[in-house]
Amino acid sequence: MVKVVVAGAAGGIGQPLSLLMKLNPLVTELSLYDVVNAVGVAADLSHIPTPAQVTGFLPNTGSGGPKSEDEQGQGAINAIRGADLVVIPAGVPRKPGMTRDDLFNINAGICTTLAQAIAQAAPKAFVLVISNPVNSTVPIFAEVFKKQGVFDPKRLFGVTTLDCLRASTFVASVVGEPTEASKYVVPVIGGHAGYTILPLLSQSQPAVPQSVMSDKSKRDALIKRIQFGGDEVVEAKAGAGSATLSMAQAGAEFAGKVLRAAFGGETGIIAPSYVNLAADEANAKTIRGEIGKDLEYFSVNVTLGKNGIEKLNPIGKIDEAEAELLKKAVEDLEPSIVKGVNFKAPPP
Ligand code: NAI
Repeated sequence: MVKVVVAGAAGGIGQPLSLLMKLNPLVTELSLYDVVNAVGVAADLSHIPTPAQVTGFLPNTGSGGPKSEDEQGQGAINAIRGADLVVIPAGVPRKPGMTRDDLFNINAGICTTLAQAIAQAAPKAFVLVISNPVNSTVPIFAEVFKKQGVFDPKRLFGVTTLDCLRASTFVASVVGEPTEASKYVVPVIGGHAGYTILPLLSQSQPAVPQSVMSDKSKRDALIKRIQFGGDEVVEAKAGAGSATLSMAQAGAEFAGKVLRAAFGGETGIIAPSYVNLAADEANAKTIRGEIGKDLEYFSVNVTLGKNGIEKLNPIGKIDEAEAELLKKAVEDLEPSIVKGVNFKAPPP
């Protein structure tokens, strides 16, 4: 029996992500939480004949039966209670001209509230953070969990999978094999915003051809497109939001991997994620050496297991151009981490 919660389930990402989680055969209970329309989305999805039993929760949804006074405002807790995995696309998205950091003020508060509910109702759940700015919101979750005495760095993930999907697609397009996009696997390390997104083209499997790697302008343009691919969507949607459908696919893909490793008996599943390096102190030491800074958070390839992160995989060999980009990524990432760690939610 596997219970998955989507928090922010009625949104642009939340709805297609909830659909994809409903289609995941490992999920037997799907709990949808949002401040609007979650009950409607749940009713809609509940007609699809897959194992997952779907329930929608609003902030004032009780735990069943007549609602007691105490249950007012307890919807998040009731939705999350007993969850194995909580995936969080709650919050506001970007509009043209905005950076992910511009979302901090609103989304930091939303993340704090949800983190408190998870700490109380499902302290052992795997927590997958999609809400931006991921570079800061993941530290916010960790700080709330630490305060509540339930922090397990092996179970907290910033979802950076969309950067990997973009890397596969854009590499295949530059290489002239657009229909073969899924065969290109490119590790993306660092963080999830602008220059903190560092695709390691030199480690692509299969390799990116020399004709691209040694053509500086082609290579720079490819890297920039992966780093700022989100802006293409924000601009094309012209005020109607940011990536939602590709993000839902990315979120479902990453959640699916965590579930397969934890509940599907599969071993050796590797995926990049933005994590607290305390998840694997032994390898964190190597990674900190590689990045040349004592950062608490970084995105690397993680090996997944029954209890979440089994291993953080060191970055390994990168080329000179990537080493330069790594310096910039670290420089930009550090203040975002500090901002998340130091965030204090105003009293309710
Ligand atoms: P949206 O506005 O369409 O949906 C957000 C949903 O969150 C809404 O349904 C809203 O009612 C809900 N919500 C607001 N406050 C809430 C609360 N306190 N509790 C539960 N739900 C709450 O936004 P969209 O496009 O779905 O984006 C969601 C977030 O995901 C944004 O922060 C966006 O920047 C981020 N994002 C992250 C990506 C990544 O790669 N990690 C990629 C794309 C977007």
